[in-house]
Amino acid sequence: MSIESKIKAVTTYRLSEMKQRGEKISMLTSYDYSMARIVDQAGIDVILVGDSAANVMAGYETTVPITLDDMIYHARSVRRAVRRALIVVDLPFGTYQGNSKEALSSAIRIMKEAETDAVKLEGGEEILESVHRILCSGIPVMGHLGLTPQSIHKYGTYNVRARETEEAEKLVKDARLLEEAGCFALVLEKIPAELATRVAKELKIPVIGIGAGGGVDGQVLVVHDMLGINKAFSPRFLRRYADLDTIITSAVENYVSDVKNLSFPNESEQY
Ligand code: KIV
Repeated sequence: MSIESKIKAVTTYRLSEMKQRGEKISMLTSYDYSMARIVDQAGIDVILVGDSAANVMAGYETTVPITLDDMIYHARSVRRAVRRALIVVDLPFGTYQGNSKEALSSAIRIMKEAETDAVKLEGGEEILESVHRILCSGIPVMGHLGLTPQSIHKYGTYNVRARETEEAEKLVKDARLLEEAGCFALVLEKIPAELATRVAKELKIPVIGIGAGGGVDGQVLVVHDMLGINKAFSPRFLRRYADLDTIITSAVENYVSDVKNLSFPNESEQY
């Protein structure tokens, strides 16, 4: 048996078992083969091919412009690298809101063309019909509530969401609806820790937080942010585990200087 075939892949069922036994779930984004290979081999449970690719890969201000074709390209690159982690792919803006048949065909395209494991959709009651239709086809769905970046033009800010009672109660109701519909997990982004803890306690499905405190069942970060590649973005919830901006800048500066002063390549670096 090859080493690869001994690896026990993470499934939606295993995530639910992790919640039941109180083991926290680790999740990071990846968008390309090389990063996904490292992240998977380091033991991450879930890889999100997030539409944050619009920001960190393509340089857009918001996640709105990224297309389904773009997401499929990123998802296929990640799929080729990953052996163990569960791969979840964001349905991008405009591919599932308001038309559940289109939502299903978007999700099917991702599953068939990228061969990934699940899709993620932003929103609650408003997109429930799309969630239902996708789930009925057998595609696992992860929900996403709280700060939903695809709606940035509706809210106008990336501030903490659901601080007020009315918005908090809607979020709790939406979380229940998504669980009842059959979502296997839920992301809660940038909401008060107390509210996120309440939702995680109430739901049976795993609740994974980003800027939602430690009382949830797992954590997700954008890999470029936690590695310090994207230093312009520094919200309070972000912990930086590396300073790759500085490391890469210094490596590139050294390379430029070595090329200019003829110290690269040397005798042993040529044929
Ligand atoms: O696109 C993304 O990276 C996300 C995470 C922030 C959860 O949705």
